[in-house]
Amino acid sequence: MSRSAHRVETFGTTIFTEINALAQEHQALNLGQGKPDFDTPPAILAVFAQALQAGNLNQYAPGPGTVSLRQAVADHAARFYQLSIDPARGVIVTSGATEGIFAAILGLVDPGDEVIVIEPFYDSYVPNILMANATPVFVPLHPPTWTFDPAELRAAFSSRTRLLILNTPHNPTGRVFSPQELSLIADLCQEHDVIVLADEVYEHLTFGQTRYTPIATLPGMFERTITVSSAGKVFSATGWKIGWVYGPPDLVDAAGRAHQFITFAVHHPTQEAVAYALNQPDSFYQEFKAMYERKLDLLSAALEGTGLQYQRPEGTYFIMADFSALSNQTPMEFTRHLISKIGVACIPPETFYSAQHAHIGAKYVRFSFCKHDETLLQVKERLSQLQR
Ligand SMILES: Cc1ncc(COP(=O)(O)O)c(C=O)c1O
Repeated sequence: MSRSAHRVETFGTTIFTEINALAQEHQALNLGQGKPDFDTPPAILAVFAQALQAGNLNQYAPGPGTVSLRQAVADHAARFYQLSIDPARGVIVTSGATEGIFAAILGLVDPGDEVIVIEPFYDSYVPNILMANATPVFVPLHPPTWTFDPAELRAAFSSRTRLLILNTPHNPTGRVFSPQELSLIADLCQEHDVIVLADEVYEHLTFGQTRYTPIATLPGMFERTITVSSAGKVFSATGWKIGWVYGPPDLVDAAGRAHQFITFAVHHPTQEAVAYALNQPDSFYQEFKAMYERKLDLLSAALEGTGLQYQRPEGTYFIMADFSALSNQTPMEFTRHLISKIGVACIPPETFYSAQHAHIGAKYVRFSFCKHDETLLQVKERLSQLQR
């Protein structure tokens, strides 16, 4: 008999654990999990090391986050998005965006409420909704353009809808939702009095002419949007697990009530380093984008001519590739083949889908390109063994 609570019985082990083990076994180049294989910029690490040794930062941080980091989050939102955030009441620091999302859901959603989730989705959303005893309602993005059908989105709203989770730039498809798409979401949320949980962890990762627009900046949306972001992606520091939630004080207060009894406070010295990092000049953010534009080009070149089809991502560090011209295997079978025979690891997208829509992702695998240029060049060599 299972000794686990019903609440967690349906939660499987995350796919990342399985793929990382397989990749290691076969010494595959691992483009699976979205974690850089290069380090955090040295200047940021130096501030972290100083904070660690300063002698006054190794005890509990203030529960909502250090004054310096909350101020830096507010300044960053003002600098990039012209948003006016109250650092004292409109920001809390969380253990990564992951805790921010969980705290926001627990703080804002009642049992029996519905939460709209755009599919494919980041894998913690649905377990978080289920742990809040709420119901996820799925709206799929349709390949190859990864756009939603406006009628399907409209139909997902009901009198029980409380929250819509919007991740843009979007993992795993690389979409950055257009102003028209955002306007439709905003209109429907206003019509149905729904709150948006905006997951913007890839906010600085857009390519070419694509610009990221936070939904909180649309008319009438700030008051109904709680935004989550993180230091993990933009400072190549996924291991630090420093994230934050910002928005109007009443929504942030709701998330903060949950946060104080989940983690209470998060790692103190790291918050000093992230405050410093967020205040980097514009050139830092421009160089970061340029670095990823180059890595995107390298992975694109590696996929060229292999028979893997994809739409160039507008943002994030992921490519969803259609392998159906090469194989009629399931994504998991194709992933195993790629790892064991070609020496390149990717992620099958099953965990990003509900059972109802899993067929939509059944020809795709996800590659991440947050890797050394040399790794991506080696990937090109290995993928050239793929036969059409
Ligand atoms: C869309 C999305 N949201 C949230 C997270 C989690 O961010 P963090 O590592 O800061 O918890 C990730 C990490 O991959 C992500 O892709």
